[in-house]
Amino acid sequence: MNVLVTGANRGIGLSWARAFRKREATVYGTAREPGGAEDLREIGAHVEELDVTDDASVAMLAERLHGVSIDLLVLNAGILRRDTADTVDAALMLRQFDTNALGPLRVALALRPNLALADKPAVVGMTSRMGSIADNTSGGFYGYRTSKAALNSVMKSLSIDLSPWPVIVIHPGYIATRMTGNQGDLGPDEAVDRMMSIVDRLEPSMTGRFYHRDGHELPW
Ligand SMILES: NC(=O)c1ccc[n+]([C@@H]2O[C@H](COP(=O)([O-])OP(=O)(O)OC[C@H]3O[C@@H](n4cnc5c(N)ncnc54)[C@H](OP(=O)(O)O)[C@@H]3O)[C@@H](O)[C@H]2O)c1
Repeated sequence: MNVLVTGANRGIGLSWARAFRKREATVYGTAREPGGAEDLREIGAHVEELDVTDDASVAMLAERLHGVSIDLLVLNAGILRRDTADTVDAALMLRQFDTNALGPLRVALALRPNLALADKPAVVGMTSRMGSIADNTSGGFYGYRTSKAALNSVMKSLSIDLSPWPVIVIHPGYIATRMTGNQGDLGPDEAVDRMMSIVDRLEPSMTGRFYHRDGHELPW
């Protein structure tokens, strides 16, 4: 099995890479700075340079992987910049949109030929419950929430356009990584362990759904 994970040098992405390496999958883990991706290299993953906000970087990745089949694409790379009604910053909102919504779309579209080479390809996006409009009861986080809502919309369209390949989004929970200042109710390995139960039963009828890491569906 060949798996590609974006943003795999640390946090949840590294845990996805580690979990698949334990299963002896071939893992392509992307990093903005491959030279610093020691943890990823140590687990035996192929380290691929990628900045999801850079069209040329995405095109070069697709070129390097020409002819390689990808069974599972995990669109994990993302950023969070806190803001409130008093601190909204247009540039920061756009950067989060570029990284969290446009980035995964760029990568998924560029790697379509690789997915097409697999028997049963699938695409999983790391979203956030904060991207749910229906579930927003605490406000704030304008840039992050809107970027993840946009990601959800992107993935919904991909679920239709890439049919019958399953395309889903999963909320990992509040996970202790650098993104959260190492605060969280679970570590990234445990979160991936839970999410793996969803990935293990992925099939075309599950496409276009928004899952909580524990397997139940979340409202859009
Ligand atoms: N942690 C949580 O509680 C939580 C909750 C809900 C959803 N999520 C989502 O889960 C995913 C992983 O989060 P995490 O907690 O593991 O975050 P993290 O520890 O901050 O890791 C983020 C990863 O994304 C990479 N990245 C950032 N910008 C990128 C870009 N432009 N191009 C390529 N890679 C880029 C980072 O690379 P660098 O090392 O180069 O910065 C890093 O590898 C994100 O999409 C996040 O929104 C996390």
